[in-house]
Amino acid sequence: RTILLLNGPNLNLLGTREPEIYGHDTLADVERLAMQAAAEQQLDLEALQSNHEGVLIDAIHEARLSKGGIIINPGAFTHTSVAIADALSGVSLPVVEVHISNVHQREAFRHHSYVSAVASSIIIGAGVNGYRLAVQQMAHLLSR
Ligand code: DQA
Repeated sequence: RTILLLNGPNLNLLGTREPEIYGHDTLADVERLAMQAAAEQQLDLEALQSNHEGVLIDAIHEARLSKGGIIINPGAFTHTSVAIADALSGVSLPVVEVHISNVHQREAFRHHSYVSAVASSIIIGAGVNGYRLAVQQMAHLLSR
């Protein structure tokens, strides 16, 4: 089975963007780590990053028939996008939400997530290791 890893806006800048918050690993490092974690669980993983809400929504729709589940770090769309939350609930696949930073330690506008209401599991503040945890949790959800 294949799982989809989606990263939202500005996560293409990982490694150089506010490294004191997000660390020094790049998006390529994160995708490689997730791919490895998936292989350990006998899962395939497809990764996509986009800065565009509609591209993420299209990818969620396309996953409906071809993927077993979706791991998503929606970036700032977490806090703004009813449309991404609706897309995720529309495809009725298991969803694991990931945030690299502990959003609850940060500005109040980062404390609410539209996506959390439709996620099976949420991993926050584990740094990029959160992606490994997300893959392991997705494997667990898919094995039930
Ligand atoms: C983030 C947290 C969001 O508030 C922020 O807009 C991001 C990254 C995280 O991974 O910690 O872009 O989702």
